[in-house]
Amino acid sequence: MDYYKAGEERFGKITSRIYSVSAKLFLRKIYSYVIEDVITHRPSSVLDIGCGEGYILLNLANRLPKAKLYGIDPSIYMIKSARKETAKLHGFGPIFEQGSSRDIPFKRHFDFISSSMSFHHWKDRDKSIPYILRHLNPGGIFSIYEYNRDAMTGLFRLMSQHSVASSDFMNINHRGFCKTIKTSGKFIKISFVDEKKDRQRVPSKFD
Ligand SMILES: C[S@@+](CC[C@H](N)C(=O)[O-])C[C@H]1O[C@@H](n2cnc3c(N)ncnc32)[C@H](O)[C@@H]1O
Repeated sequence: MDYYKAGEERFGKITSRIYSVSAKLFLRKIYSYVIEDVITHRPSSVLDIGCGEGYILLNLANRLPKAKLYGIDPSIYMIKSARKETAKLHGFGPIFEQGSSRDIPFKRHFDFISSSMSFHHWKDRDKSIPYILRHLNPGGIFSIYEYNRDAMTGLFRLMSQHSVASSDFMNINHRGFCKTIKTSGKFIKISFVDEKKDRQRVPSKFD
């Protein structure tokens, strides 16, 4: 089955490897923001959509040892590589499956759903967000982490198609969910919080 939709950038065998090597070199700062932010919510289950090679979840496995961690990505090459790493954790690592913003293959709900640097690739965003929100537990949170287009200057502007701006989310609202948009340096976080139950939490670097 092809989990990508026409028009979405495909991460094949070679592009997945290239991304992974350059991500580990250049994306440490945003990874650390995402990881610290997820941890502040103390979720007992996390789904990462567009997880790539699973860097965020594999780190969360150490930081949230009791949490159930799941990752999905349309790229079989990303998933195979993530599985290779999780196998080293001998059954205590995250579970990785092929999937997408339109296909969540797990029959369960999650306290926290994250997506880092993936949303800007998605087609069908309008349908994907309500579909994803239906997979949250009461009080759950869906957070999108991206580079902030409004904060890009100089040569960084060349990367603007790999970023989002707060205006992209102006008209995206869902009843029963509180939307917040926070920026931190070059990063932006867009969250949808299920208002059914306020989970106890501590402030994060994005607050
Ligand atoms: C730039 S990589 C980011 C990977 C990882 N989240 C990270 O932070 O390093 C974008 C990822 O999004 C995935 N992707 C693209 N379209 C997607 C979609 N519609 N749903 C879920 N993931 C998607 C790609 O296969 C790719 O692995």
